[in-house]
Amino acid sequence: MRWWVRVTWDLGHDVILVDNDQAKLNALKTGDVPIHEKFLPELLLRHRDRKLTFSDDLNHAVRASKAIFIAVGTPPTEQGEADLSYVESVARSISGAINGYKVIIEKSTVPVYTSDWVRKIILRNAAAPDSFDVASNPEFLREGTAVTDFLYPDRIVVGADSGRSASVLSQIYAPLTDGSYYQRNDAIPAPDRAHIPPQLIVTSAKSAELIKHASNAFLAMKISFINAVASICESVGANVQQVCQGIGTDSRIGPRFLNPGIGYGGSCFPKDLMAFRAVARECGYEFRLLDEVMRINEEQRQRFLRKVRTALWTLRGKRLGVLGLAFKGGTDDIRESPAILLVQALLQEGCQIAAYDPAAAERSRAVLNSSMEFVNSPYEAANGADALLILTEWEEFAALDLDRLHKQLKYPIVIDGRNLYDPDVMAGHGFTYYSIGREAAMPLTTVNGAVTPARKIRKS
Ligand code: UDX
Repeated sequence: MRWWVRVTWDLGHDVILVDNDQAKLNALKTGDVPIHEKFLPELLLRHRDRKLTFSDDLNHAVRASKAIFIAVGTPPTEQGEADLSYVESVARSISGAINGYKVIIEKSTVPVYTSDWVRKIILRNAAAPDSFDVASNPEFLREGTAVTDFLYPDRIVVGADSGRSASVLSQIYAPLTDGSYYQRNDAIPAPDRAHIPPQLIVTSAKSAELIKHASNAFLAMKISFINAVASICESVGANVQQVCQGIGTDSRIGPRFLNPGIGYGGSCFPKDLMAFRAVARECGYEFRLLDEVMRINEEQRQRFLRKVRTALWTLRGKRLGVLGLAFKGGTDDIRESPAILLVQALLQEGCQIAAYDPAAAERSRAVLNSSMEFVNSPYEAANGADALLILTEWEEFAALDLDRLHKQLKYPIVIDGRNLYDPDVMAGHGFTYYSIGREAAMPLTTVNGAVTPARKIRKS
């Protein structure tokens, strides 16, 4: 029996990974991992040419498999809807190779009703109605922690409209839901707050499709909500970190995804919100709340730009050190990265920029102005700069040698778009420090031999 899906090879299944991109296949066959993702190189090494093989032969893979996962891209169209042409084309190809009962599973993030459409397409291409089922099995993994998110999920959602397909999907995930995977000596280590064993939630296919869109929209809404609250904190001189603690400890709200910053980015939230908005409209509901979530997200970058102006007055000719280009820490992905959008805006304003990112520099080079400098450490980025900007929440940016940083900068100004530091600590180290939703702090000054507390700048 063969299964065909991402990390399920670590659960003991045989997996054939099919792609039509030869360069990607060749890289994987030789053990190259084309993306920065923790634990993926080890797992690939463990299973390559054993449990996991690569192929461009879709017919063979379908014939050899009982479960077929569709994990193709669903990019946004100009109207913001999900472009389902890759899903349709792969469904058509699968239909020609069905040679016995198959479960065809949507893994790509797709709008509600896609499973119905996939079924129609396969039937139109002459597959017998009882030779297959279409199910939805949405993915909740985050880039950077994708492997642990997959192996230690909060829940596994199986959207299956027949008992037969639900049973195949339950078998696939059995090593997780019966806890046997976690007993293994070679199991990938558990992250904090792992739910072991995870809950399996069986729903209709339509409900599962909605669960995926609604989950991403809710998380994005949480981020925009706290960013809006952060703006009010800035106006009244409150501290958003304290507000987060106060509301996040309410177990009905929870502390996660309440970090204010320069807005969300990535290949999922922006695209999925637009797609959810579009599908809701098609179904007759104007989901205006999502417009506001997107508007606040956009505004958050403009507010940050204003903060840079407040700190530096004019921008033309200013030299800025930038820490972080990826859309978040732990990944080399720059798709819809708020950091990249901000750097582009600052370059347009005539700033000179030296940027450092632990993983995303190569990808950034392709999209950023060639006048930009890419450097090899945070201290090089700070060297001779009028200010240092923190744009991505990489862990290493939260543990910088502050005295060394201070010496490198031409002016000790740090504008932190990710709230990685305590304003009083920064002031104590001699920085003028701006962050999100907290008063800006000025260096401690000595008056008649006595050190005065950090002076706070109310409006930033
Ligand atoms: C997201 C979902 O979390 C995941 O469940 C889904 O499967 C895919 O989309 P991902 O895009 O990898 O995952 O990143 P995520 O960790 O959710 O962060 C998205 C963006 O929100 C990043 O730009 C991040 O910096 C930002 N963010 C996240 C915040 O600004 N504040 C937070 O508190 C959390």
